Amino acid sequence: MRSINVKSDRNYQVVVGVNGLESIKEICKDHNKVLLVAPSSLIRLFKLKEGKNLTLFPTPDGENQKTVATLDRIWKKCAAIGLSRQDAIVGFGGGATTDLAGFAAATWLRGITWYAIPTSLAGMVDASVGGKTGINSSAGKNLIGSFFSPAKVLIDPTFLKKLSKRDLSAGMAEVIKCGFISDYRILNLVQDDELDYSQLIYRATKVKSKVVSKDFKESKLREVLNYGHTLGHAIEKDSKYRLRHGEAVGIGMVFAAELSHELAGLSEDAVQLHRELLQNYNLPVSYPRGRWKNLSTLLLMDKKVKQSKVRFIGISKIGKPVWLEDVSSSLLAKVYERIAK
Ligand SMILES: NC(=O)c1ccc[n+]([C@@H]2O[C@H](COP(=O)([O-])OP(=O)(O)OC[C@H]3O[C@@H](n4cnc5c(N)ncnc54)[C@H](O)[C@@H]3O)[C@@H](O)[C@H]2O)c1
Repeated sequence: MRSINVKSDRNYQVVVGVNGLESIKEICKDHNKVLLVAPSSLIRLFKLKEGKNLTLFPTPDGENQKTVATLDRIWKKCAAIGLSRQDAIVGFGGGATTDLAGFAAATWLRGITWYAIPTSLAGMVDASVGGKTGINSSAGKNLIGSFFSPAKVLIDPTFLKKLSKRDLSAGMAEVIKCGFISDYRILNLVQDDELDYSQLIYRATKVKSKVVSKDFKESKLREVLNYGHTLGHAIEKDSKYRLRHGEAVGIGMVFAAELSHELAGLSEDAVQLHRELLQNYNLPVSYPRGRWKNLSTLLLMDKKVKQSKVRFIGISKIGKPVWLEDVSSSLLAKVYERIAK
């Protein structure tokens, strides 16, 4: 078991290598009442049972749970069981669940203790660390939320045995991202025949923890975690969310690497390494040529756009992120050609 300290609105530990089901019991010992939020599918899969002071709150699966309606039902449940400030909420599931449970905890009684027990790779290395919680709404995806850190993030890598190959690969895109922006050793580890998930999760989580500890509310440094995300978010939207977040981010990383080659001197070999590593995990590295017009419009809606200028996170070499400011639309179109199919 290894742990990482994260500094934020409150300091907390990310513990990698716990027994996830035992952790629920431990949490129940520390609180009078615990409300565990998890998709029904995972409640069945992991045979979760209610206990003396443990109430289960089953949710729909995936993005369908990140809604105002589900949140309202959670609040009603909190009221029904009399969940007080001394009690706790647990988010058990992928990133969608920890986002939802964290936001429920942030809003119930103006904030109560919560724990994240992520079960997907994306949830372990990305969503559960960093304190961003939230839901989707009719105004858009992830626009409603709060920075509200958990008391602990408890990671049990054995849960990944039941995760689909596609979701495992999508999570791997975020792991590879951590390798490119900060820790080149990750890039060696992902090429091993036998993957050491504990080690990969520990290293990737450490990268994210370090960054968010320095810049909790994303004033600037935290943007490095968005490597591949600027185009990635546009692709996610353009695909009407048929592509997984990690799949879209993978394509976005190849684009950001190509842009970094043009503007920041990233070597051609390093650009090629992006393609190789992502393809090893069956992740896409190109996108239809005809979608550029729509993507370029979507890019202007990115949160990093300032005065109509699109900014990208690039790398000048492996482990060295850079900000690519004021990128011209003609260069963007030229670089898109390299990833178009
Ligand atoms: N808060 C943040 O900083 C942050 C960062 C990145 C992503 N996110 C959010 O995270 C979500 C994406 O995360 P995700 O990919 O984990 O999505 P998800 O929660 O929808 O999980 C993907 C699928 O895997 C299933 N699953 C999870 N663990 C499993 C397991 N061990 N075995 C079998 N099936 C399992 C889920 O039920 C779901 O069907 C999005 O909502 C995104 O907005 C948040």
